[in-house]
Amino acid sequence: MIERDDLDVLLSTEEINTRTKELAALITEEFKADNDLHVICVLKGSFLFFADLVREIELDLTVDFLGLSSYGDSTESSGVVRLTQDLSKPIKGRNVLIVEDIIDTGLTMKYLVENLSTRGPKCVKVCTLLHKPDNRTVEVQMDYIGFEIPNEFVIGYGLDYAEKFRNLPFIGVVRKRG
Ligand code: XMP
Ligand code: MG
Repeated sequence: MIERDDLDVLLSTEEINTRTKELAALITEEFKADNDLHVICVLKGSFLFFADLVREIELDLTVDFLGLSSYGDSTESSGVVRLTQDLSKPIKGRNVLIVEDIIDTGLTMKYLVENLSTRGPKCVKVCTLLHKPDNRTVEVQMDYIGFEIPNEFVIGYGLDYAEKFRNLPFIGVVRKRG
């Protein structure tokens, strides 16, 4: 069992906020000519990052939510991606931005980009807060990356351990013993 006191801060609230503003400025720049953007929150892990990011994007955007699950309560990828909740509206003709918490093996995002691309969007772009390059097993599209992080299990700011710790305002790692 992991407890809050077992965590070290990997990325502080301030570091996350600063980087989120930088990403939002880049996204605003890319889509301002169209002034159309449909931002998709991948539940549950990206809910805090998503909420902070969209607030900083200076466009008349729309939002939608979908649920994906690939992990269960384990810290290892099962490799099986499941759509647990679909979008509420079609995305045909829209500029779509997927907002994800973390790309690890890449299997989840590969599945999602392929799935959404079949629905006739104008474009699909990917923004992930975290990327673990050491663990990636498949090629996957990543247009905006917040931070590259080491191959360790991270918790907080939306990311869970057995559904807990999503409300921590920072991203933590389990402290190594000794
Ligand atoms: P893949 O391997 O498909 O994984 O790129 C993406 C999904 O796996 C979850 N994931 C994590 N969740 N701490 C977490 O709380 C982690 O360190 C971690 N690594 C991967 C996450 O849900 C992501 O959507
Ligand atoms: Mg998770």
